[in-house]
Amino acid sequence: MTELQFFDGLLGFWFIMAAVAFVSLFWLPAPYGRMKRAGWGPELPARWGWIGMELPAVVVPLVCFGLSARMDHLVVGILLGMWLLHYLQRTFVYPFRMRMSGKTMPFLVAALAFFTNIGINYLNARWLYTLGPEYSSAWLLDPRFLIGVTLFLFGFVLNLHSDHILANLRKPGETGYKVPRGGLYRWISCPNYAGELLEWTGWALACWSLPALAFAVWSAANLVPRARENHRWYQRSFDDYPAGRKALIPGVW
Ligand SMILES: NC(=O)c1ccc[n+]([C@@H]2O[C@H](COP(=O)([O-])OP(=O)(O)OC[C@H]3O[C@@H](n4cnc5c(N)ncnc54)[C@H](OP(=O)(O)O)[C@@H]3O)[C@@H](O)[C@H]2O)c1
Repeated sequence: MTELQFFDGLLGFWFIMAAVAFVSLFWLPAPYGRMKRAGWGPELPARWGWIGMELPAVVVPLVCFGLSARMDHLVVGILLGMWLLHYLQRTFVYPFRMRMSGKTMPFLVAALAFFTNIGINYLNARWLYTLGPEYSSAWLLDPRFLIGVTLFLFGFVLNLHSDHILANLRKPGETGYKVPRGGLYRWISCPNYAGELLEWTGWALACWSLPALAFAVWSAANLVPRARENHRWYQRSFDDYPAGRKALIPGVW
């Protein structure tokens, strides 16, 4: 089997996996954070779980980039920079910014995320840096690239700001939950997910490739069911939860 045949098979499998995940996560939420429940095997500290499972999203692109002949291509460098902006933050800053002390997650969740991160990063990095068509410098002025980069940056700031609001809800040592307020929490329960989805939609637009689309679809398959579950959980848990607040899209859903 050639690498391209393997690549195409894995890419097709990813879209099927996204469809399966989307349907099943509505019924069986991933057991971490507020949805963590007993019966999912051994656990590890949540902070180390986050670092470990996100690490492939930093290492795999850098290795593939280092092995490629496109290291001096400006477009490729910008797309890598966007990816690393998100994943250096997610892997090395986020786990220390959020109040996770004393929290655990099932080892199984971290292991599954670790291996899916290897897969989706392989697909995107190999395509961008070696297997896919090269971008000419004219792509820098293409509306898809410009709108994609703008969406990504907007989503990144929204994701960071929303996580910042969550991080400040707990005082040192606290582990419970409160109603988040301010920012886009005025209108939706999960602006951190909305930001993340805007980021990967923008990145897919800027890359204009099937692997990048697979990642945007995969992220939506994970985050849309969880946004519904988080929203319902807030409504069940707080009598004074703002009635007009939606799950993910202001005024709509
Ligand atoms: N691309 C993808 O496919 C994908 C998939 C999953 C997650 N993510 C991203 O990863 C990040 C974290 O995801 P997540 O599902 O863990 O988000 P989350 O449920 O909103 O939790 C984020 C952090 O805030 C804390 N928190 C949440 N709500 C709180 C409240 N009401 N009061 C006090 N603390 C609260 C959580 O504590 P606890 O852990 O104690 O609940 C956790 O430390 C998000 O930015 C998300 O977009 C991306």
